[in-house]
Amino acid sequence: MAGRLNIIRTHITGVGGYLPERVMTNKDLESIVDTDDAWIFERTGIRERHIIADGQHTSDLAAAAARQALEDAGLSVDDLDALIVATTTPDMIFPSTATIVQSKLGASGFPAWDIQAVCSGFVYGLAQADAMIRAGMFHRVLLIGAESMSRIMDWTDRSTCVLFGDGAGAVILEARDASEDGHGGVIGSVLKADGSYRPLLMARHPHPGASPDMPDMAVDAAGVAAVEMQGNEVFRNAVNKLGEVVGDVLAHCSMQPAEVDWLIPHQANIRIILATAKKLKLDAGHIAITVEKHANTSAASVPLALNSYYREGRIRKGQVLLLEAFGAGFVWGANLVRWSKD
Ligand code: COA
Repeated sequence: MAGRLNIIRTHITGVGGYLPERVMTNKDLESIVDTDDAWIFERTGIRERHIIADGQHTSDLAAAAARQALEDAGLSVDDLDALIVATTTPDMIFPSTATIVQSKLGASGFPAWDIQAVCSGFVYGLAQADAMIRAGMFHRVLLIGAESMSRIMDWTDRSTCVLFGDGAGAVILEARDASEDGHGGVIGSVLKADGSYRPLLMARHPHPGASPDMPDMAVDAAGVAAVEMQGNEVFRNAVNKLGEVVGDVLAHCSMQPAEVDWLIPHQANIRIILATAKKLKLDAGHIAITVEKHANTSAASVPLALNSYYREGRIRKGQVLLLEAFGAGFVWGANLVRWSKD
């Protein structure tokens, strides 16, 4: 007798976030570089950002966000089957930040690894974890986006240092039989990359000679590789590529823009966010915006925005969320999720 074929879906069952205590406002930046609050806010939508403390590491931010997500899901760390950290500012070259986070959470045994897709790390991680869960490999996965971007800034370059911040966001992903929970959970994802754009946005490897095709490495005061960016070219590409990928993910899932309740975008620049929302014909009441208070926290930005809007009670069960991100490489992508938490 043929058995019933179970269809597995990936549900977000816990959400958490952590922002370091220290807040750096645009006014504070006026004493560091030749800039002003009005310029930064008008061009980017940013008013302030959080900055990691001396002695704190990306893994500490990640572990704090993870603890909140576990509590939200009503789980302990021992209930997990896998741990993924999306980061472009790892504690070390190796071991991975994920293994450090696992240890700081007091666990061992289950697999833990990092993924590097810069600002798209969380969107890439969600697609990867969803595929592994639906394939039956894992039942419960902790996915974290965590960054200490302030550590790779050139604090003399006003065109980049005003844009970024530090923080971490985390989700618990759990397998559920589709027959138990209708059509909730991750609906689908689209991921893209094009490495030919890499000269437009990068932080080079700190080892001498590690970036042979790119001499004249930018370094900060301590001699550490810092972010270099051609802002207006990145801006133009982000608007175009995000506009395309939100259409692609909807087509991939046979859905229409009108079915999207919330855009949960990467928080790099309010003007990029609004351009993507316009493409979807979404008004301000359907866009999660945290860039004003968080700035660009790279892989942490999407889960931090999700966590803020979830905790404020704005995201409700049954609503469709469209997550998107764009980052250096370029790498970009989007996920569609039907929210299934109460
Ligand atoms: N304060 C004051 N003036 C600044 C400044 C700052 N912090 N940064 C740059 N400027 C100046 C520039 O020097 C330039 O002056 P000039 O005309 O005398 O040369 C002027 O402002 C305009 O610079 P420009 O780069 O053309 O501004 P912009 O409107 O493109 O805005 C960004 C700059 C960086 C805000 C914008 O390009 C951007 O957001 N890009 C995408 C960044 C991003 O999202 N990166 C991460 C992707 S994951």
